[in-house]
Amino acid sequence: MTLYLRADTAGIAAAAALIRAGETVAFGTETVYGLGADATSARAVAGIFAAKARPRFNPLICHFTDAEAAFAHVFPSPLAERAAALFWPGPLTLVLPRRPGSPISDLAAADLPTLAVRVPAPAAARALLAACCRPVAAPSANRSGGVSPTRAAHVLTDLAGRIAAVLDCGDAALGLESTVLDLSGPVPVLLRPGAVPTVALENELGPVARGATPGAMPVAPGMLASHYAPVLPVRLAITRAGAREALLAIGRPVVGGAICFNLSPAGDLKEAASRLFAGLRWLDTEGAALGLQGIAAMHVPETGLGEAINDRLRRAAAPALVPLAEAAP
Ligand code: TXA
Ligand code: MG
Repeated sequence: MTLYLRADTAGIAAAAALIRAGETVAFGTETVYGLGADATSARAVAGIFAAKARPRFNPLICHFTDAEAAFAHVFPSPLAERAAALFWPGPLTLVLPRRPGSPISDLAAADLPTLAVRVPAPAAARALLAACCRPVAAPSANRSGGVSPTRAAHVLTDLAGRIAAVLDCGDAALGLESTVLDLSGPVPVLLRPGAVPTVALENELGPVARGATPGAMPVAPGMLASHYAPVLPVRLAITRAGAREALLAIGRPVVGGAICFNLSPAGDLKEAASRLFAGLRWLDTEGAALGLQGIAAMHVPETGLGEAINDRLRRAAAPALVPLAEAAP
């Protein structure tokens, strides 16, 4: 049974009590819903991996109320301190060297010498973290490899019966996951484009190298990675949709498509980002129910938030995780 909690004083207190007791609780942030658990408890963190069916080599982001609390567990470089001062609270995740004495479980960090840390902005998330009195590990609250959730109903679709509770914090304001910036090495490396546009980072912090997105690489031998994948196949940058396709539009819709979800009729990338995952989920569910062949996605400009939107769309269009042993004849 999964409890449904409103994000009022009583709901937040109940959610925090569950997390302190080692349970998994989904909660809203400005980016997407996270599936939270006590980061210092290996048993609690194992509950996250089990609920999501997430491979254990994929590390989790730890969430904190402020930079001081985060930096108690990692060594911040001067650049990390600047990034935190400029972008926290907000949708930026920093990967930094773990402090040896940190009580955060090795499982949360997937045994890496680094840790991803983030300070979310919304009042409900911050109140929850404060009431937990400990770091909260939280990946996106979807089944591993699926589309991230931007509202409580999405979480329940994916994880009802597998987690203790969901704290309904309303629709996620930004709708795209945080930007992940690795500051553990000699040069800053962008591991995942996200809700902070890369140009905004570079304007403030200087040049950032483009790394491979974690989880997108063949991180384990024999694994071909994809992420954010709906059930229906996705076709990109289409100029016309088939009669038996579901159309994901932006701006003026192209011809065709049995059903259409418009990310932003005005072509506004912020609006499009906030509606991307809800749109993909809706087209996927309706499209499958109608027996459609796939989702046809219109071209999205690569500027600003378009970089992260296109990253998620490319992943949605990539083939699913296939162990080589199974793929081989
Ligand atoms: O917006 C977000 O970041 C949301 C909310 C809930 O905070 N969380 C989220 O978590 O998107 P998740 O687990 O879905 O994505 C985190 C990404 C993964 O690709 C993971 O591999 C990477 O961050 N990551 C975590 N720790 C890392 C580390 N130590 N080194 C490199 N990558 C890391
Ligand atoms: Mg995720």
